[in-house]
This record gives sequence, C-alpha cells and structure tokens, in this order.
Amino acid sequence: MVTGAGRGIGRAVAGAFAERGDTVAVLDADATAANEAATAVGGLALGADIADEAEVERAFAEVERACGPVDVLVNNVGVITPFESRAESLDLAVFRRIVDINLVGTFQVAQRAGRAMIQRGAGGVIVNVASIYGERAMDWRLYGTGGDAPRQDDAAYHITKAAVIQMTRVLATSWAPFSVRVVSVSPGPVDTEIVRSTIDAGARAKIADRIPVARLATAGEIANVIVFAASPAASYVTGANIVVDGGWTCW
Ligand SMILES: NC(=O)c1ccc[n+]([C@@H]2O[C@H](COP(=O)([O-])OP(=O)(O)OC[C@H]3O[C@@H](n4cnc5c(N)ncnc54)[C@H](O)[C@@H]3O)[C@@H](O)[C@H]2O)c1
Repeated sequence: MVTGAGRGIGRAVAGAFAERGDTVAVLDADATAANEAATAVGGLALGADIADEAEVERAFAEVERACGPVDVLVNNVGVITPFESRAESLDLAVFRRIVDINLVGTFQVAQRAGRAMIQRGAGGVIVNVASIYGERAMDWRLYGTGGDAPRQDDAAYHITKAAVIQMTRVLATSWAPFSVRVVSVSPGPVDTEIVRSTIDAGARAKIADRIPVARLATAGEIANVIVFAASPAASYVTGANIVVDGGWTCW
C-alpha cells in the first residue's frame, strides 16, 4: 500500500513496485488521481484522507479484502503550507491541519498497518517518507527570486517531518520483536509537478546550485531507494533515516 500515490513520488513508488510484479494499492485523498494512478499501474485505487480515522479503517478493510494483508506500507503523504508562510505569523489552524496530516495521519496509517502485521505474525515493512527538512531548517534564501525573495520557512512542514523521523525510531524499536521493520527515507528537492508548480524556474535553478550533484532528484530515484528499503536486501535496516539528497546535507 502506497499513500499519496496519486501523483509525484508516491506514484513513482507504486509504479516501481508494480514493475516488480507486486500487488499495489494506491491510496490518495484525490480519488480521481488515485483511480488514474491505479489504472496506470494495474493496482487497487483507494480514495481516503489519511487524517480521517474512519476513512483509513475503510481503506485498510478494502485492501485486505481485495488483495490480502498489507506486507509493505509506504507512508508517503506529506503536505506543505499551501502559501508563503513565516513562523511568526503562521495561523495556528493551518499549523494544526498540517500536524493532523503529516504527523497524526502518518502515525495512524503506520499504527493500523503495524497492528495488522503484529496480529498476523509474519513481519512486514513500513517506509515513512520524511524529508531533509526534518533534519535541517529550510534554506529560505533559495525559495524566491531576486532581492525580494519571500522569507518562506514553512515551519509546520519542517517540524512535522522531524517528528516522522523520530516516529520511525520509536516504531522500529517497539515493533522489532515482531519482525516489523520501520525505515524513513528523506528526499532532498525532487522534480515533481508540485515543485514545478509552486517553485519558479529561477528558484529551482538556485536550489540546483545548492546541491553538490547540481540537480534535483527525479521521483524515480527516490522510488528506487524506497523499494530497496522495503526489500529483503535491507533486512538489517530498521529505525534508520536514509537520506537521498544528492549531497545537500553534507554542506
Ligand atoms: N517533492 C519534493 O521535493 C519532496 C522533498 C522531500 C520530501 N518530500 C516528501 O515526499 C512525499 C511525497 O511528496 P510529493 O512531492 O510527491 O507530493 P505531491 O504533493 O506531489 O503528492 C502528494 C499526494 O498526496 C495526496 N494527499 C495529500 N494529502 C492527503 C491526505 N490527507 N490523505 C491522502 N492523500 C493525501 C495528494 O492528493 C497527492 O496526490 C511527501 O511526504 C513530501 O513531504 C517531497
């Protein structure tokens, strides 16, 4: 099961698993995007908001009925503040909504998957998609063009992504006795539609210049690492945060 798989990184992850012959469930709050992605990868579409407990339960019940138990969960949904935001003026209602999706939603999907894996007794893998911005504050100088660059710090996003990295360690240690591995994958900037539509070309060039390999990642490059983290090749990896950032956090 891949959450937020209607587009972007999640869609690439769903495609990568399907190519290997795995049965894939594509969950997204945007039911149209979920249907399109599921049709493209030959998987099951699930329309659900991960922040809504009843919708999450319905989605799990449906996938378990149609495909059997979830043995790999890619907990990929993550949202940014949908406008320029600064910590000192961020509306707390917006902050709470982002916590509700990125933190509570991510936890409740992991909790539902983990509970079923523990009850089944056959182990499993949960890959949480975090971000380099869970480890570093945003270099806000990059996210605008010219001298009037907005001071975009997107505090809620960063704080919740740090929590996802810590959630990974907590769940990994709690569930190791049940052979459930929990891993974070933290991408640097990825060239997805959302990045192209929210960050202009000038800013994207500045971002690329900040990265040692001098370009943004493709969604496929992130998907490859997620598939590895979920595979038996990573059988001794749990609780780790695998950074996939072209060297960003080295500087
Ligand atoms: N794109 C990047 O540069 C980048 C960098 C680092 C980390 N990430 C992380 O990777 C993950 C995927 O990012 P992306 O760029 O592919 O995102 P995206 O915005 O392109 O796609 C996210 C998908 O999640 C769905 N979604 C949003 N809220 C949801 C909810 N409450 N319930 C269910 N589905 C919901 C959206 O409909 C969308 O299809 C996120 O966790 C993001 O924080 C992305």
